Amino acid sequence: MKNQRRAALLTSAVAAAVSIVAALTTTYALAVAAIGLAWIAGLAWAFLWARTVTADLRRIDRQTRRRRDDAAGRTTAATSATLATHSERLDQLSRDLYGVLVTVQRTPSLTVELDRLYDRTVDHGRPMPELGDWALTPSTLIWMLEQVATTPVRTILECGSGSSTIWFATALERRGGEGHVTALETSAEYAERTRRELERLGLAHRATVVDAPLVPTALSGRADQRWFDLTGLPELPPVDLLFVDGPIGGTGHEARYPAFPLLADRLAPGAVVVLDDTGRPDEARIVKHWSAEEHAGRRLRQIERLDRSVAFRSEPTT
Ligand SMILES: C[S@@+](CC[C@H](N)C(=O)[O-])C[C@H]1O[C@@H](n2cnc3c(N)ncnc32)[C@H](O)[C@@H]1O
Repeated sequence: MKNQRRAALLTSAVAAAVSIVAALTTTYALAVAAIGLAWIAGLAWAFLWARTVTADLRRIDRQTRRRRDDAAGRTTAATSATLATHSERLDQLSRDLYGVLVTVQRTPSLTVELDRLYDRTVDHGRPMPELGDWALTPSTLIWMLEQVATTPVRTILECGSGSSTIWFATALERRGGEGHVTALETSAEYAERTRRELERLGLAHRATVVDAPLVPTALSGRADQRWFDLTGLPELPPVDLLFVDGPIGGTGHEARYPAFPLLADRLAPGAVVVLDDTGRPDEARIVKHWSAEEHAGRRLRQIERLDRSVAFRSEPTT
């Protein structure tokens, strides 16, 4: 295209020069023919130039459209991602709100149940420990104390001490007969606090808090698993009720998993095992592992799903 334009321009210039010379030499016919050729060549050059400019403009237009579409695509993708994140958050929020609604709806009946539990279990005028953020929920407490009151639970073992230790000791004392709760505790300070509380309520003979810091375990396939040091745990009669509410989350992957494999041989026939905080991903996975595994000739069958915990019954595998 460039060469054609050059040729047209050159032809036009040469023809114009020829026409001038022809006019000066009075060769008018040649001069007219040369002027005509100069015009035609000039028009051809203008036509070719216009085509080039049009092609350039089209190319620029295509590039502009492509860039605009790319930018629009990127903006749309970013907007969709933001919308998806917001919608996920809204879903989570509505799930949380539903949880709050359920709790609020259940509060009156729970309060009545707790009142009845208080009457049935506590026979002194001293205030019992609150069920704070770290403790078990009223539903789990009511369910487990019902077990103490209505079944011959004698030996209770707890992973993680606290309000639950006091409540178990109180329930065993109120029911009378044999019965003792032993709690494994990683924090020396927290163990001491629970012991002082037991003394204050005159229940020290019903409960033992064992100092049990986290130590490495020898569980196969779980090289990094740390769990309560059992060397301080005394010989106990077979355990009728095992409450797994420790170690605290965040001390390791599936921190409470070892309770079943490491304590299975201590479980009495038909023992109840309660795992707390099963709404958390780690504990939800532990429920699945325990439901599928066998240890020391025992397996666990789920018998109750409470608001935040799951209760199992230990059964022989044969
Ligand atoms: C979930 S708590 C156990 C609570 C106990 N089973 C109860 O229901 O009251 C697990 C561990 O957290 C620690 N813990 C309990 N309350 C705590 C608090 N208020 N602050 C810090 N750690 C606490 C203790 O070491 C305890 O063994």
